[in-house]
Amino acid sequence: MYTLLYFSPTGNTKHLAKQLGENLKIDETYILPLEFAKPEDLKTNDTLILMFSIQGFNAPRTVKRFIKNLPEGLYKKVHIIAVGCNTLWLNDAVSIDIKKILHSKNYVVGLDEVLAMPLTFVMSFPDAAGRKLVKESEDKINDISSIISKNHSSNRKVKFKSKAVNLIGKLEDPAARLFGLELHATKACNSCSICWNRCPENNIKPNKYNIPKFGLKCEMCMRCITECPQKAITPYISKFILIKNGYSLSRYLSK
Ligand SMILES: Cc1cc2nc3c(=O)[nH]c(=O)nc-3n(C[C@H](O)[C@H](O)[C@H](O)COP(=O)(O)O)c2cc1C
Ligand code: SF4
Ligand code: SF4
Repeated sequence: MYTLLYFSPTGNTKHLAKQLGENLKIDETYILPLEFAKPEDLKTNDTLILMFSIQGFNAPRTVKRFIKNLPEGLYKKVHIIAVGCNTLWLNDAVSIDIKKILHSKNYVVGLDEVLAMPLTFVMSFPDAAGRKLVKESEDKINDISSIISKNHSSNRKVKFKSKAVNLIGKLEDPAARLFGLELHATKACNSCSICWNRCPENNIKPNKYNIPKFGLKCEMCMRCITECPQKAITPYISKFILIKNGYSLSRYLSK
């Protein structure tokens, strides 16, 4: 009945996707990380639930490309849930491009929601604030589960100022590519291969010594930096945008 595709470079969206999947009793084989799913391999189903993290007030490049490649007619309805670090008007237009592409393929869009989880770069949310945000989003996922199970839709109006912010946010894409050129692995790297196997943009390749080299396709998703077991990946200059000791959702989850 449901297919749930999520894009979650650093785990926040995955956490909420898992909860939604449990609430709606979605078979695990229909819950897939979007970046490793092939659009042509997807089976038809009643409803697609698309969840992704917000980058620069937009859907990440990986998500936009995936939706562009999605064949027509696979689902009767698509629900969109974007996950950022706040639910202010600034993020309201986040799904505008995704919706345009879906409409051009004759898909019906149901929900268009924005949820908030802790920020994964620049600054570490204090424990109490982060826990509160996670709890609020978990509660909202319960509400959304019930709305989806009743097959309801929403019709949220997006204000001009949100669309303007969404447009400005597109500048993040070229900036992210430059950020990728800044990335490098320190001597702590033990060539475990996690980073080049997990980069959603295929931006990391091992050199002849099995040390990662970074290209111009970075989308600044923070996954390689967060997941490297050796904490070996870092930018040359923009070190200040990294969270000290790395981002970990677990510190905000109730025990
Ligand atoms: C490069 C970058 C840009 C971001 N831009 C936004 C943004 O525009 N709005 C927002 O609310 N959160 C933004 N965030 C925060 C993430 O969307 C947020 O922390 C999200 O919960 C991460 O989810 P994930 O762990 O599933 O990737 C940004 C994060 C990164 C790394
Ligand atoms: S994930 Fe870290 S340790 Fe593993 S290959 Fe990449 S940089 Fe090296
Ligand atoms: S190089 Fe790292 S930060 Fe850039 S897209 Fe790949 S995993 Fe994300």
